[in-house]
Amino acid sequence: MTVMTAQSGTPLDHVLLQHPGDVPVAVIGAGAMGSGIAQVAAQAGHPVVLVDAQPDAADRAVERLGATLDRLVAKGRLEAAQARDVLGRVRPHTASDMSTVPAVALVVEAVVEHLDVKRAIFRQLESAQPATTVLATNTSSLSIDAMVQEAHTGHDAASYGGTSPALARPGQVLGLHFFNPPPLMRLVEVISGSATDGQVLDAAGELMRRWGKTPVRCTSTPGFIVNRVARPFYGEAQRMVEEGIADPATLDLALRRAGFRMGPFELTDLIGQDVNLAVGESVWRQTGEDPRYAPTDWQRALVREGRLGRKTGRGVFTYAEDGSATDAAPDEQLAQRLVGGPVHQDPVARTLAMLVNEGVDLVHRAEATAEDVDTAMRLGTNYPKGPFEWLEELGAGTVRSVLTELDAHYPGGRYRRSEAL
Ligand SMILES: NC(=O)c1ccc[n+]([C@@H]2O[C@H](COP(=O)([O-])OP(=O)(O)OC[C@H]3O[C@@H](n4cnc5c(N)ncnc54)[C@H](O)[C@@H]3O)[C@@H](O)[C@H]2O)c1
Repeated sequence: MTVMTAQSGTPLDHVLLQHPGDVPVAVIGAGAMGSGIAQVAAQAGHPVVLVDAQPDAADRAVERLGATLDRLVAKGRLEAAQARDVLGRVRPHTASDMSTVPAVALVVEAVVEHLDVKRAIFRQLESAQPATTVLATNTSSLSIDAMVQEAHTGHDAASYGGTSPALARPGQVLGLHFFNPPPLMRLVEVISGSATDGQVLDAAGELMRRWGKTPVRCTSTPGFIVNRVARPFYGEAQRMVEEGIADPATLDLALRRAGFRMGPFELTDLIGQDVNLAVGESVWRQTGEDPRYAPTDWQRALVREGRLGRKTGRGVFTYAEDGSATDAAPDEQLAQRLVGGPVHQDPVARTLAMLVNEGVDLVHRAEATAEDVDTAMRLGTNYPKGPFEWLEELGAGTVRSVLTELDAHYPGGRYRRSEAL
C-alpha cells in the first residue's frame, strides 16, 4: 500500500535520497498540462494525487491516462504490468478547497493562467501542507514573485479580508514550466523567484532529470527563456508580410530552407493565433511595452476575425478536412532571391539576428546561462540551433551589422542591440 504522507522534516533534496514510491506528489488542475505532468510523475514512480475543482474532471483525466497507457502497451513501449502500476499510482481527487489535499512532498499547480486563482491555491496549500512541502507552478507567463507576495486587489481579496497575504515560505516556491505535451516534451524550465532557495532549485532540477526531463534554469523574467527568445521568429515574418515584402507561404519556405522545421505562419496556425498572440501581448506588457515585443496589427486582425489556425479551419492559411493547407503556395524564386539580398528584405538575416540578440540579452541580464538558452530553444521550439550556436556561426560582427542596418531602416528601438553584442 502506498502511504500518501510526506515525511516530516524532509526538504526536497532529502526526497532525492528516498524511493520515489515514498515521495507523494500532488498535481492541481487535471487539464491538458496537469494530466500530462501527473503521467510523467507516476511513470517516474511517485504516488500522485490529481486534483481538479470541476466535478469529474480528475476522474476523466485518469480514465484518459488509462487509455493512453493502453496505447503505449499496444505499441510495445510499456509492459502491461508497468501500465497497471502507473495507473494505480494516480488517484483522482475533486476539490476546490486545497486543505483536503493529502500531505505531499511536491505540489505542481497547473490550473487556469490567472494570478489570483493560483495565489489563492498556494495560500491554502501552504497552510495545509507540511512545512517542508515544495510548491511549484506550471505558469507560462506569471511572475513567481507576484505569486508569493502580498496582494491588495483581485478576486480572492474578499476571502482574505481585502488582502492576500505574503506566503510564509517563499524559499520553497518555484516554477516548473513543462511544455505541451508533458510526456513527450523533454524540456522543463526551472524558474526561480527572487526568494527561491538555491537548494530547492538544485533539487527540483535533479528531480526533473529523474523524471526523464532536461531542466534549464531561468529567473522569473517575462516569458522565461523560450517564450521570450522566440518572439522575433513570429514578429519579423509578420512585419515582412505587413510591409508587403513577401507572402506568408514564401517566408515559411525561406525559413524552412534555413533549417527551421516549420515556418512561423504554419507554426502559429498549429499553436493557435490567439494563443500565440496572448503570449506576445503578455511579454510586451510585462516588459513595459518594449517595442522589441510589440505584437503586430496584422496578427491582431487575424484573431479578431476568428482566423485562429487549424482549430478553426482557417488562420493564415485555409485547411482541408485532412489537415492540409489548401492555399499555401510559395513563390520559390522569391524565397531564394530574398535571402542574401538587402537586409530588411531578408527573412533569414532578420530572424537570426533578432533571435541572437534576444538570447545574448537574456544572458547579459543574468537571467539564464548561454548553454541553457541554446538547450531551451532546441528542445522547447525544435530550432535546429540555439542562438549562441548561430552567434558562433555568423560571427558577432555580422549580427551587429544586420541589427545596425535594421535599426537605421526602422528606427524606434525594436532593433536596438544588446549591450553585450
Ligand atoms: N497548454 C499549454 O500549452 C501550456 C504549456 C505550458 C504551461 N501551461 C500552463 O499550464 C496551466 C494549465 O494549462 P492547461 O492548458 O492545462 O489548462 P486547462 O484549461 O486544460 O486545465 C486547467 C484545469 O484546471 C482546473 N481548475 C481551474 N481552477 C481550479 C481551481 N481553483 N482548483 C482546482 N482546479 C482548477 C480546470 O477545471 C481545468 O481542468 C496554465 O497556467 C498554463 O499557462 C500551458
